[in-house]
Amino acid sequence: MGAGYGDAGPADDEEGARLGIAPDAVGSDATPGRARILAALAAARYHGFEPDPEDFHSAQSDGVPSPFELVEWLREAGLWARANRMNWRQLMKLTEPAPVVLLFNDGSAGLLTGVDAVERVALIKDPRGRQSDLPVPVDELRLSEVWTGEVILIRKPREASGDRETFNLGWVFRLFLRDKKFLRDISIASMVTSVLAIVPPFIVMSVIDRVVVYGNQDTLILLALIWGTVVLYETVLEYARVDMVTLLAGRIDTRINLHVFNRMMGLGLDYFERHPAGEIHHRINQLYLVRMFFTGRMFDLVLDVFTLIVLLPILFYMSSALALVAVATAIVITLIIVAFMPAMRRVTGQVVRAETRKSTHMVENIHGIRTIKSLAIEPQSKAEWDLRVADAADWRIQSGRLGNWPITLVIPFDRFMQRGLILLGAYWLLSGTATLDTGGLIAFLMLGGRLAAPLVSMSKMVQDQEELRLAISEVGLVINNPPETAITSSGIRPPIEGALSFQGVTFSYPGQMTPALKDVSFSVPAGTMLGIVGKSGSGKSTIARLLQGINRDYSGFVKLDGNDLREINLRYLRRSQGVVLQDNFLFRGTVRDNIIAGRAGLTLEDAVRAARLAGAEEFIERMPAGYETFIQEGSTNISGGQRQRLAIARALVTDPRLLILDEATSALDPESEALVNANLVRIGKGRTMVLITHRMSSLTDCDLIVVMHEGKMLDIAPHRVLLERCAIYRQLWLQQNRHLDPQGTRHATPAPVPIEAD
Ligand SMILES: Nc1ncnc2c1ncn2[C@@H]1O[C@H](COP(=O)(O)OP(=O)(O)OP(=O)(O)O)[C@@H](O)[C@H]1O
Ligand SMILES: [Mg+2]
Repeated sequence: MGAGYGDAGPADDEEGARLGIAPDAVGSDATPGRARILAALAAARYHGFEPDPEDFHSAQSDGVPSPFELVEWLREAGLWARANRMNWRQLMKLTEPAPVVLLFNDGSAGLLTGVDAVERVALIKDPRGRQSDLPVPVDELRLSEVWTGEVILIRKPREASGDRETFNLGWVFRLFLRDKKFLRDISIASMVTSVLAIVPPFIVMSVIDRVVVYGNQDTLILLALIWGTVVLYETVLEYARVDMVTLLAGRIDTRINLHVFNRMMGLGLDYFERHPAGEIHHRINQLYLVRMFFTGRMFDLVLDVFTLIVLLPILFYMSSALALVAVATAIVITLIIVAFMPAMRRVTGQVVRAETRKSTHMVENIHGIRTIKSLAIEPQSKAEWDLRVADAADWRIQSGRLGNWPITLVIPFDRFMQRGLILLGAYWLLSGTATLDTGGLIAFLMLGGRLAAPLVSMSKMVQDQEELRLAISEVGLVINNPPETAITSSGIRPPIEGALSFQGVTFSYPGQMTPALKDVSFSVPAGTMLGIVGKSGSGKSTIARLLQGINRDYSGFVKLDGNDLREINLRYLRRSQGVVLQDNFLFRGTVRDNIIAGRAGLTLEDAVRAARLAGAEEFIERMPAGYETFIQEGSTNISGGQRQRLAIARALVTDPRLLILDEATSALDPESEALVNANLVRIGKGRTMVLITHRMSSLTDCDLIVVMHEGKMLDIAPHRVLLERCAIYRQLWLQQNRHLDPQGTRHATPAPVPIEAD
């Protein structure tokens, strides 16, 4: 049909419809920028991936996603993605059936679903259109009017989905080798520098042989000129080299840092629970060694290698006998260093371990300083610190002493190369066996002295590489753990109502002998206010953790609206939930920031509404700057109860379908607890609420209460029923409410029909 695009789509001259692609499904949110996200999403779905548009963050002022941001977002979701420039001819050669995103001038995008190389048309769909819409054939001229020439290619990742590459030395080097152009330039600069460095000794040689011996003025001037030029070149090149090294190192550093943080955030919560924050912090901090290596040693090495390549042939050409002696000496030096390496490696490992223990202690103490001070156990803590410092110092001294040996042993050989060779050379010169003259001998010495340094630093390099490997493996110990994100980028996103059911759920924490939950079964309809009670350690929080998808290796089923919880996209699941724990973290920022917590699309009104519901409005309004008051973790301008109400507001601000309060009111004083409790019914309205608490009086309003005992579910019923039939519940109630009438003091709760566990 040739350029028959005209009859394929409606003749519509509107902006964004220039291709004749019908944007009929354009809703209110279908801005051009939205089209880019939709197009990328459609292409990702083709590969069975489901990136969450909520995860997409654009820093662009016009809200139009940049190719880079789209690629980042897709990669985050586990896909292979790349932004490229292409021309029509390259487009026509795309034979893969996978759709490609074409970016348009107006900030929107189209989905290239195929090409017809015979008819010379591209088949393009509007991502905002209906799924059933047929792609529109578009020819070169028509496309060139709207297309920026940018495409986003999306593929399935090479490895099994979600599995990330192991972070190790090889990974870092691959990253390093990716900047081919830079590496090439640096190599060239290094090579030229090392060649130019050869020149001055020859100038010295000529000065002595030609100028001093024969008194030749012209040669002197010529040599001075050559020398000047060489110095100039050397200066400029050195500047350029250092500049490039700095740039490249900065880029590598940035990439590694971004990568490591991403991977760390992707780890499951249980990892952070099993490892002290100090240890994780120290391990990740080892990245500074990686940076040091790449900013310094790495490029010195390149320079050293080139120096050797250039130097050796020249030395042998000048005097093979002297060159042989020089090389032999250099080899002895290298051997000495290599001989000490295994021992050094062992000691270095110990130093790293000791340092880790040290900084773990430091970080733990900073975190726990309140407890330490209130228990007045500073002396114990100091004693422990002393031990760890002494240990680290010991290993450092051992490492330093051991390292001193090769350095000392090498000195005589090094000095021989620097100065002793002249004696040998002079002897050979006198005895007539040498092929060198005086100037040559001096030049040889100047050059030969350069031989040792690269060899020594190259053999030290083995040591550095060892240190680097150790540093990287320390980082790897953290981030190579199985990520949680593999699950965050997949899974279904069903609309959530809030009907919950546990079916024969048994769960043990890793490494624990007794299960924390034993065959727990119950189910509640959406909108239930569900209380959970039980003695300490009975498994209440574990139920909450399973609901949040923190622990997923349980047997049986946890279902949300009939969907297996493990099938639901983890990030989506957590976004649909509000969780308040006993101890909640405040971010640096204003009260408003702390309630909104960076979640997109929330306004001050939402924050105010949530604060009112959480009973926090009263104290926020009394604060000096209201919602703009600055608070932070450990802030003194906020009390424990206020902090808790802020956390409740934070959980409520997104109006979640499922709200989990785990001992959320335990830290509150009776007055603020009463405030929150009075609001509980209102808070729970229109959502499922799981209320875990020790305060039995908070539970009387619950529709249903689960009674847990040693990991087993004893009963589920409303308060009054439980009082009558559940001995443990009655016991718990009476412990706290001896003075009350056992029916509860509040308004009579209409007894809802208990739902049988299935
Ligand atoms: N992260 C964890 N690792 C290992 N075992 C755990 C972990 N968390 C809890 N447990 C164990 O699981 C069991 C149930 O703990 P859970 O935290 O669910 O109790 P709980 O009912 O919430 O108690 P409390 O009222 O004291 O908060 C306990 O025996 C506890 O020791
Ligand atoms: Mg608990």
